[in-house]
Amino acid sequence: MTNGQTQSTNQNKAKWILDVLIFLGFLIAMEPGGTGLPIHEWFTLAALATTVIHLLLNWDWLTQITRRLLGKISGRTRTNYILNWLLFIDGILLMLSGILISRVAVPALGFELPEAFAWRRLHDISANFGLILLGLHTALHWSWIVNAFNAYIVQAIARIIFKKDVTA
Ligand code: HEM
Repeated sequence: MTNGQTQSTNQNKAKWILDVLIFLGFLIAMEPGGTGLPIHEWFTLAALATTVIHLLLNWDWLTQITRRLLGKISGRTRTNYILNWLLFIDGILLMLSGILISRVAVPALGFELPEAFAWRRLHDISANFGLILLGLHTALHWSWIVNAFNAYIVQAIARIIFKKDVTA
């Protein structure tokens, strides 16, 4: 394997792990009643950093497609791209409204914000909309997810078992 190939395999592996973490994290964030509000708030604020890394890792793809968007691209890529933008905008509304209704993290950082019902509604709506968008996003990338799972997880487990068999 060349240096370039090793680098892209490692990058794909990192991407896959981050994607799974973001997906699981989102599901946990959807249940503030189950985790309690302090975990909900601190956890989602920390998740912001993960999402920024996810965007940076996919930056090449984003800039390439942005340039090509007006030209000839497949309907699937266009749908994917529009979906990504909707996810991005929804994510901003979700985080912003969350911060504006925060009762734990933001007060702990020394800020007091007036209560506003509209932000609470927006938080609710953008969370539910985000769940739908994330489902569609996952469905569109399903074959990539399964292939990466086979390449990184199934084969790694097979290697471990195989080694054990050899030394036994
Ligand atoms: C991925 C990001 C997030 C998701 C998916 C999410 C999701 C949710 C959901 C589903 C609810 C419950 C809505 C309901 O039952 O009516 C909720 C409530 C809430 N969230 Fe978030 N949230 C996120 C980020 C944040 C952030 C960053 C903060 C603040 C720093 C925050 C603060 C709150 C607060 C204060 C409530 C109200 C809890 C209550 O009234 O008992 N959220 N969130």
